Amino acid sequence: MSNSDFTPRDNFGSKFGIVAAAAGSAVGLGNIWKFPYVAGQNGGGAFLVVYLLFIIAIGLPVMLSEFSIGRRAQRNAIGSFKKLAPGKPWYLVGVMGVAAAFLILSFYSAVAGWTLEYVAKSVTNAFAEKNETELNNMFGSFISGTWRPLFWQFIFMILTAWIVVAGVKKGIEKYTKILMPLLVVMIIILCIRSVTLPGSGEGLAFLFRPDFSALSADAVLSALGQAFFSLSLGMGTLITYGSYIGKNDNLTGTVLHVSAADTIIAILAGVAIFPAVFAFGIDPGEGPGLVFITLPNIFQQMPGGYFFALLFFILLAVAALTSSISVLEVVVAYFVEELNLTRRRATILAASMITVLGVFCTLSFGIMSDVSIFGLVFFDLMDFTASNLLLPLGGFFIVMFVGWFLGAGPSRKEISNEGILKLGYFPVFIFLVRFVAPFAIALVFIYGLGLIRF
Ligand code: TRP
Repeated sequence: MSNSDFTPRDNFGSKFGIVAAAAGSAVGLGNIWKFPYVAGQNGGGAFLVVYLLFIIAIGLPVMLSEFSIGRRAQRNAIGSFKKLAPGKPWYLVGVMGVAAAFLILSFYSAVAGWTLEYVAKSVTNAFAEKNETELNNMFGSFISGTWRPLFWQFIFMILTAWIVVAGVKKGIEKYTKILMPLLVVMIIILCIRSVTLPGSGEGLAFLFRPDFSALSADAVLSALGQAFFSLSLGMGTLITYGSYIGKNDNLTGTVLHVSAADTIIAILAGVAIFPAVFAFGIDPGEGPGLVFITLPNIFQQMPGGYFFALLFFILLAVAALTSSISVLEVVVAYFVEELNLTRRRATILAASMITVLGVFCTLSFGIMSDVSIFGLVFFDLMDFTASNLLLPLGGFFIVMFVGWFLGAGPSRKEISNEGILKLGYFPVFIFLVRFVAPFAIALVFIYGLGLIRF
């Protein structure tokens, strides 16, 4: 089979393959770069508690809903709604998802490019003998440049497109299976080094001792956005992946494995970062540079730091890649199935459009840093609009669709593999998708946007 005659309904090869691909999508920069920086900006512990609540009450039901929609319809994010609700406006949820994919990948590829730069810096041993201030300046001068960050962003987009062209089974599954477990081992090693640094206790307290008085409405909305972002929810990634899951696979089991892996890795990333942040006197609210400044500091304090840094940034780049392909796949599956493009053309078209948007994200740390829209630079505007607005909104309609439009009968059939699996928890699921998740999303949304205040 040549690369271009990928059949749209390619299936994942094995049970582990599904978990690997979905976990590969979920685990990425969201866990290791974004979670620590957003938690750091929003007070730490209290943010973590709210985040975990959202994962359980909203994330799990949304994820199971996405898988059910995709596997039932056997289509892309937009086509699935068209098939299950012909002639109804539900497909607009998919349209919103495809739009979100563009925005997410535009800033995601910028940060993924940074990880490639840090691979290169590790190779040349650029962190050696540098103190906190020097590492900070090093990061600052890199991201505020023009050609270097753009170069790495382009490289990353080319890698992403290349894997997506190769198709689901060959492209996506393969990379995740081996490299993800290795990433986990690396993070655990970092955790050990971080918590044994002198002065690290404050960092653990920051992460695990919640101070709810520090929790703003903004922080609650960011926790919701982060839950969606980290689990890859709300834009049809998991609808698209659901359509590749075999009819005999257990959807609920996959949901639990993927969410648990994703959440554990985010928390581990927090344990790796915050003790070191406090030990080195870095500001936890530092922003998007937080891990890029903290990690090289930790590597400096480790025997064999050169190799750990190199291996870690390579693994981080791969984790970013297994996530970015899942974002691009949403757009490509749509272009292929609804616009009848070949897989190769669809990928090139989508990746090029995203790269153009991505240039603005990257430059918003440099020559475009004074250009702001609604008070946000381009990078933050893309992130905020996608993560905090489009994803929760998408999630809201996805659970409403499953809870109220598809209804209990058909969703039970899908989730139970046509009645084969016994679903003791099904009433809980239906209650969550019908009432709890929509209500919670709506409330956080309205509250977080400042439309109401308690
Ligand atoms: N979850 C990924 C991460 O944590 C990013 C990602 C992949 C994503 N697919 C997505 C985010 C779909 C939102 C929606 O890095």
